[in-house]
Amino acid sequence: MTNPKRYLVTAALPYANGPVHIGHLAGCYLPADIYVRFQRAKKEDILFIGGSDEHGVPITIRAMKEGTTPQQVVDKYHALIKESFEQMGISFDIYSRTSNQIHHETSAAFFRKLYDEGLFEEKESEQYYDEKTNTFLADRYIVGTCPVCANENAYGDQCEKCGTSLSPEQLINPRSTLSDATPVKKKTRHWYFPLQNYEAFLKDWIVNGHPEWKNNVLGQCKSWLDNGLQSRAMTRDSNWGVKVPIEGADGKVLYVWFDAPIGYISATKELTDKWADYWCQEDTKLVHFIGKDNIVFHCIIFPAMLKAHGGFVLPDNVPANEFLNIEGEKVSTSRNWAVWVHEYVQDFPDMQDALRYVLCSNAPETKDNDFTWKDFQDKNNSELVAIFGNFVNRTFVLMHKLCGGKVPAFHTDIADDADKTMMNEFETAAKRVAELIEQFKFRDALFEVIDLARKGNKYMQDKEPWIVAKSLAEKPENQKLIDNCLHICLQLTANLSILINPFLPSIAQKMLYMMKVVDKMLDWENAGKAKLLSVGYSLREPQLLFRKIEDTEITAQVEKLKSGLVKPAAAPVAEAPTSPALKDTIQFDDFAKIDLRVGTIKSAEKVAKADKLLKLEIDLGFEVRTVVSGIALHHNAEEIIGKQVVVVANLAPRKMKGIESNGMILMAEDAEGKLLFVNPDGSGKEGNTVN
Ligand code: 2FM
Ligand code: ZN
Repeated sequence: MTNPKRYLVTAALPYANGPVHIGHLAGCYLPADIYVRFQRAKKEDILFIGGSDEHGVPITIRAMKEGTTPQQVVDKYHALIKESFEQMGISFDIYSRTSNQIHHETSAAFFRKLYDEGLFEEKESEQYYDEKTNTFLADRYIVGTCPVCANENAYGDQCEKCGTSLSPEQLINPRSTLSDATPVKKKTRHWYFPLQNYEAFLKDWIVNGHPEWKNNVLGQCKSWLDNGLQSRAMTRDSNWGVKVPIEGADGKVLYVWFDAPIGYISATKELTDKWADYWCQEDTKLVHFIGKDNIVFHCIIFPAMLKAHGGFVLPDNVPANEFLNIEGEKVSTSRNWAVWVHEYVQDFPDMQDALRYVLCSNAPETKDNDFTWKDFQDKNNSELVAIFGNFVNRTFVLMHKLCGGKVPAFHTDIADDADKTMMNEFETAAKRVAELIEQFKFRDALFEVIDLARKGNKYMQDKEPWIVAKSLAEKPENQKLIDNCLHICLQLTANLSILINPFLPSIAQKMLYMMKVVDKMLDWENAGKAKLLSVGYSLREPQLLFRKIEDTEITAQVEKLKSGLVKPAAAPVAEAPTSPALKDTIQFDDFAKIDLRVGTIKSAEKVAKADKLLKLEIDLGFEVRTVVSGIALHHNAEEIIGKQVVVVANLAPRKMKGIESNGMILMAEDAEGKLLFVNPDGSGKEGNTVN
């Protein structure tokens, strides 16, 4: 949307069933905050909405396990999460909660309108029920023995040991994870939202209307739409949540994904009487910041709900991030493999901007990324301290030493190319940073800011005012050279404070204090200007903007992470075990280029001087191929003749140890790391495609 009249920015409402970790920050809260702070500096009319998602099964289950009430659970975590956001400088205009009355009223009225207009389907179905805890069970809350691999702790939707997709009916000895009771089938009635009725609208709106959305977001949306949408139950059997506002619907509440996004609307209502200007006027730019697991809800389900209701704007963009792993492993809250924000703030007081910096410069904007404590230390020490902090500090120290603590004049008569080039950089950098933030490319934007500081260091290093100062006794006119250099470095410092402000707001404030200027200087209209600080104005002594992080602090954090790791219980609730981090998302078209075929191994021999390699002759039905494969440590050549493998049949030829390999074979690793054949008995037909 070009030139919106106002902005409405939301960040996913975190479940109030645990504290927030740095993956949450990197995923959506930090990018949202940077975007909002930037728009505020541009003087845009903008609201930043957040709050806790306080309904849903995980909260009732936590309460049950802790022997307390859902309300006590959400009260505790809502307060903790809110405080963590404040400490990290996430500048919501309101941080509300979905247990508030205004939210219950708003979401119930929303549901009621759709109900009155006959937009729901009412259906009766049989669902699993735990008679001990009187709870209907989602598939994930049922465990039992896998019919395929005999794993005793397979979930009702999938066995994580052998990967088979399951339904609870297939489990042997199914039991409830809540009480160990055997689940029974029970009839229940629910209201379903027929998403398929909105498919044409969604396709047009997303595919034709928003080609500019991020690839990872568009990719997920297209795959949902291509697979066809289906009716989805919008109510649940529970006593915790927004009561279904229909007669005879006792014991039923709204599905948490129906009420949570309406939480954005209720929170705006709570914040301002003018809420409808933001939600109902076409010239509002609505942006939802979320993590990738929320894409379908924000791009498909909620927009369909808004469309069905009518009268609301739809999101203009949903810049979802991927996930942030920790020290090479997926974050797992149940295994306590996470860096908790409230603990970081305790361990590194007054260093929230260092974390903001590292999370932004390493943000999982296009693919999953990894946070390591070592990288945190490196980025802090070699970028914040050594580049940005060093430049500002040297500028202030030299200005006090060589210019009497005042902004020196700029003598145009002796200005050289280096001076002019440096001053031009202010504007170029400011433009780039603004463009990149508008495009949600926060990492690149931050990189531009650091790069500008790096150029400042280089400029000062080339000018060497401290050396020039030694010539002053002989050549007093050289003071002009010193003045020009420090004048430019100070104006650059002022610019850096404006550019860094959306990313590191506390640092920007410290810089304002040193420059003795007010907040107004941070207005974006000042970015790129070469004359921000007045000549002759006296400035304060430098303050340390950043501090070095010592090796011992990093070792302690890694130790804490490892020692806090909780081994999964016999039947962990609703969380996948750790697997290697996922590679970058590929689009369907990329995948479709790979031609997979079934092949039978006709001969196999060891490759000379290569421990791991076997030279295989593989019959693909239409031809016999030579493929060199690294499986010699797993299988003896003589034992694999006649076995079948999946072959990537259109891989470009590649020479390995002098032998041309024409393809690659795919095998699966078992729990012990052994490589398995697809059809060990050779019963498949060569040349068949693998789909
Ligand atoms: O994934 C989550 O943490 C959800 N609680 C996000 C909800 S976002 C919105 F719809 F409220
Ligand atoms: Zn299994």
